[in-house]
Amino acid sequence: MNRRHFLNRLTKGTALAGLVCGGPRLLEPPGLAAESSPPAGRLKITKVKAILTSPGRIRLCVVKVETSEPGLYGLGCATFTQRIRTVATAVDQYLAPFLAGKNPDHIEDLWQSMYQSSYWRNGPVLMNALSGVDAALWDIKAKRAGLPLYQLLGGKCRTAVPIYRHASGNSLEAVADSVLKIMAEGCRHIRVQLGLRGNSNYGAGGGGSPSPGSDHFQGDLFDPGAYRRSVPKLFDYLRQKVGDEVQLLHDIHERLAPIDAIGLAKELERYRLFFLEDPLAPEDAGYFKLLRQQCATPIAMGELFNNPNEWLELVSGRLIDFIRCHLSQVGGVSAARKIAALCDFFRVRTAWHGPGDTSPVGHAAQVHLNLATWNFGIQECTLFNDTVKEVFPGTPEVKNGLMLCNEQPGLGIDLDEKLAAKFPVKDEPPFDLQWGRLRGWDGTIQRP
Ligand code: CO
Repeated sequence: MNRRHFLNRLTKGTALAGLVCGGPRLLEPPGLAAESSPPAGRLKITKVKAILTSPGRIRLCVVKVETSEPGLYGLGCATFTQRIRTVATAVDQYLAPFLAGKNPDHIEDLWQSMYQSSYWRNGPVLMNALSGVDAALWDIKAKRAGLPLYQLLGGKCRTAVPIYRHASGNSLEAVADSVLKIMAEGCRHIRVQLGLRGNSNYGAGGGGSPSPGSDHFQGDLFDPGAYRRSVPKLFDYLRQKVGDEVQLLHDIHERLAPIDAIGLAKELERYRLFFLEDPLAPEDAGYFKLLRQQCATPIAMGELFNNPNEWLELVSGRLIDFIRCHLSQVGGVSAARKIAALCDFFRVRTAWHGPGDTSPVGHAAQVHLNLATWNFGIQECTLFNDTVKEVFPGTPEVKNGLMLCNEQPGLGIDLDEKLAAKFPVKDEPPFDLQWGRLRGWDGTIQRP
């Protein structure tokens, strides 16, 4: 069959047949071509905007997509807290006009066209903006279906979502107390971080001190050697104090030289971690193979990932055990589904990034993904305060170490815009400016 024959058959009986036979014009597929002049009554995107708010300590960005159907809108997390206003600009100045009048039903098509629309792709600013829109479109679709989002993603694989929480302290005893307190609340997975006097260890809540360098080198001091020596001591102490049953996790936060991270992972093997997080920076990804050859400590990686090339080889090479992408850094719900599906075939489990700089809207999206993903591993969790919960009615509840999903259609979460406006984001310390300040004893800047 020649091409014209084929196209004639394909388009027989449709308005398209005339187009194809009329001359050398390119084929316009029937569905999408119609989108340029929407029929009256079809659902349209009427407004897209970024909402910035800071009801807790952390500056949050949420995208709201409104439609031509009164009262029908969606929300999506676009929080890149360190550069929050740049994301708002990308949403308000670029994606809003790009999306105006389009059909919110075509989520994948809109994702791909937003992605191509800047020509230069990826990067945290543009991906956060895109991700916020993406999750909002899923919210809209699930609301229209009258179903909680997890139903559209394949339905529940589990009844609720196991979470891990953060224990820390500036002494071995303080960390153990923190672990026992969290265990008493029913949590089975706990990340442990130890603060050291005069050394600004990650995740340990303070403990930093000014660098002894000159005024030119102001910042917090970090001694990688002292940190590395402290971690096996912490796990040794904890296994004696809190027992074997609780699942313990630790985050290196890419702070060690690669060979030191590999050495630490080996030393920690005997303490049976649930996972060791960010042992290496994305820039040092070539070392994962060496790490894998040395020990069987489970490895979690990915909160900094932004470009598919950062995770493809680590997953397909079976070099990591948990994928930890920040959803709004990689493309929202649509991207997370694909990443989870890729990981499924390599027995890599999900452990999406979930600290306080994932908004409650982002956490809600993660609950739905986690319920519907067979190869779910664990969810990092933040306990939001009452003010945040008032600004975001429907914020997922945490009980007995589980995050629970409400059964409302869509993401099941809302944003009280009037209340959110009472907590404007401010461009001042402490949160935003703590990054890029960590220095070695000679003043050398360190990874965060
Ligand atoms: Co982390």
